Amino acid sequence: MIIQNGVNDLYSQGAKRTRPSAIRELCVLVARPEVRSLAGGWPDPCLFPRERIFQAMEDLMNDRASALLQYGSTEGLPDLRREFARRAVQEGGRNCDPDRILITSGSSQGLDLAVRAFIDPGDIVFCGLPTYFGATGSISALGGKLIGVPVDDHGMNTEILEWKLDGLKRCDICMKAVYVIPTFQNPTGRTMSVERRRHLVSLAEKYNLIIFEDDPYAELRMERDPVPSLWSLDGTGRVIHIRSLSKTFSPGMRLAWLVAEKSVTRKLTVIKQGIDVCSNMPAQYLALEFMRRKWLDEHIVSLVDHYRRKRDFLLDLLDHHFPEGVKWNRPEGGFFIWVELPVVIDAQELLSEASENNVVFVAGRSFFIDESGDHTLRLSYSQASEPEIEEAVTVLGRLIRKRLS
Ligand SMILES: Cc1ncc(COP(=O)(O)O)c(C=O)c1O
Repeated sequence: MIIQNGVNDLYSQGAKRTRPSAIRELCVLVARPEVRSLAGGWPDPCLFPRERIFQAMEDLMNDRASALLQYGSTEGLPDLRREFARRAVQEGGRNCDPDRILITSGSSQGLDLAVRAFIDPGDIVFCGLPTYFGATGSISALGGKLIGVPVDDHGMNTEILEWKLDGLKRCDICMKAVYVIPTFQNPTGRTMSVERRRHLVSLAEKYNLIIFEDDPYAELRMERDPVPSLWSLDGTGRVIHIRSLSKTFSPGMRLAWLVAEKSVTRKLTVIKQGIDVCSNMPAQYLALEFMRRKWLDEHIVSLVDHYRRKRDFLLDLLDHHFPEGVKWNRPEGGFFIWVELPVVIDAQELLSEASENNVVFVAGRSFFIDESGDHTLRLSYSQASEPEIEEAVTVLGRLIRKRLS
């Protein structure tokens, strides 16, 4: 028997602050074949471009196996950085040279590097109420103090942010950053208006803040024109624009990139050197090959069509099965729909009952750093098949009606 006497006391303060993710905990349930899950924000596995990955990988291994299987530079493959820089210019109309790009192991690493670079224990970071708990978890683990700012139909409410900034500045408190998912936000699916984006960028300048712009869903736009990224609106080098191939290619590849001011990218690169030396080399070559053959763009077009169909399918079911008094939004892209239940229904209790009936979703409270949101929940249409979505919504509709009566 191993006696762990005192080992718990040896954990660092950072390790003691870590909390398990609500979704990872749900994974155990979701893995059961009888469970219908609207919980995880995972891509639909039936859309992974298996054949093309196989074909490109075979060609790459024949042509350049030694490079694929070797260490690479921490910044990432130069040609891949050039490709992302070209795309950044296409999207934002702003000059972007490849020195601003850092390839990362998932956008989770991009955010982690950004937080390590800028946040000391006790520094204040503003975030949405609600927001993605993966990010707030890593900010808190590194000692950042989170302050929530309500998110409404137009994204984070920057008027309220300004009011909070003003109040804290008067008390001489160190405010460092804003963490925001401006497009098809996780969990609400909402998109920040361009007016609020401009306002946020101007506040960052006025109060000397960094913005962590987490943007993994931007390419999954199903309708209307794109809204400019915060990065493209910023003229003072305060935005770290974090992207990902997880939702548009494959999360298992763990491949993502960020764009920042050159000196910031350099600082994050030096931090990354000490963490994982370089990101996955076969995945980098594969992604580059997909872009060169124009396969990635083609793939994204088919993803958007597919997810639009699933979103509409879920929305129609909600209209049909959910009773009056339950509200939800119609996202213009991404993976999520946000549901507000009548106040007499607690989403966590509904989840317990739903999981007894083999249906799961994420109760909203996990996305609120102030532990509010008891009557909210997130539904994802990305991973489940249409028959599974239908079964899940039928059960949820029945349980909600039962609770209301
Ligand atoms: C808002 C947001 N940021 C970051 C991530 C993590 O993505 P990655 O796989 O690129 O690390 C997710 C994943 O669900 C997310 O929703």
